[in-house]
Amino acid sequence: MSDAWFQGKVAIVTGGSRGIGAATARWLAARGAHVVAASRSGDFPEGAEKPSSIRGFAADMEKNDSVDALFAFCDNTFGALDILVNNAAVIDVAPFTELSDAQWRRMFDINVFGMAHACREAFRRMKPGSAIVNIGSIAGSHGREKFYGFSAYSASKAAVAALSEALSVEGRARGIRVNCVAPGAVDTAMLRQAAPGLQTSAKPEDIAETIGFLCDGSRAAVHTGGVIEVLTNG
Ligand SMILES: NC(=O)c1ccc[n+]([C@@H]2O[C@H](COP(=O)([O-])OP(=O)(O)OC[C@H]3O[C@@H](n4cnc5c(N)ncnc54)[C@H](OP(=O)(O)O)[C@@H]3O)[C@@H](O)[C@H]2O)c1
Repeated sequence: MSDAWFQGKVAIVTGGSRGIGAATARWLAARGAHVVAASRSGDFPEGAEKPSSIRGFAADMEKNDSVDALFAFCDNTFGALDILVNNAAVIDVAPFTELSDAQWRRMFDINVFGMAHACREAFRRMKPGSAIVNIGSIAGSHGREKFYGFSAYSASKAAVAALSEALSVEGRARGIRVNCVAPGAVDTAMLRQAAPGLQTSAKPEDIAETIGFLCDGSRAAVHTGGVIEVLTNG
């Protein structure tokens, strides 16, 4: 499969070692993009479906110097950056009174501050026509059902949506589109950890379709500042 706009484009996908991030890395690579799939492990699932244009890279979104090393690797390897998918996140589920400050800080450090730092590094590099997609959650959406024990995670994902809307304003002047995809329940390791009883037929590949569309400078050229909820059957 190939798609003209993606040919030779350079993408960073954080949280790319599994789940929605790995599916997005495959989606982009299948259309001709070079993809850096970043995660703490730096792994990428091997197998017949792993294109050679996906490179795993070990980077921890909780640490600014680690994020800096990720962007430096991209600079040194490709000398360009066209797409950033900010997908890495963590969740600790616990009643509000039992959730520690350290847990709150870790969720915000990774889910929000790490993402903001990556957006800043991307803004400094990206040329007009580039795209950022930040992954939020319906857990952070105003007016959607909330879940017991998700207080810090929900707050962090609301921040992701607000950050994305705000950056789209500054991105307009630079020709950088910024959108947020906010999924419902998707069958991944995170869902099985956070909500073991929840069943959904939504697969990471379903969300990758929406993320990929928003990255596409030919089809989504006017799309910016959106928080696109992907409501699922979970
Ligand atoms: N699954 C759902 O139902 C659902 C619903 C709504 C929103 N989301 C959002 O979708 C995104 C992807 O979630 P998922 O369900 O695919 O989760 P997942 O299967 O747990 O994958 C999370 C990815 O993030 C990486 N990661 C975690 N902490 C990191 C860190 N500090 N630095 C760098 N990478 C880190 C993990 O790799 P390492 O462990 O190797 O670092 C992994 O690649 C997240 O933003 C999540 O909040 C998921």
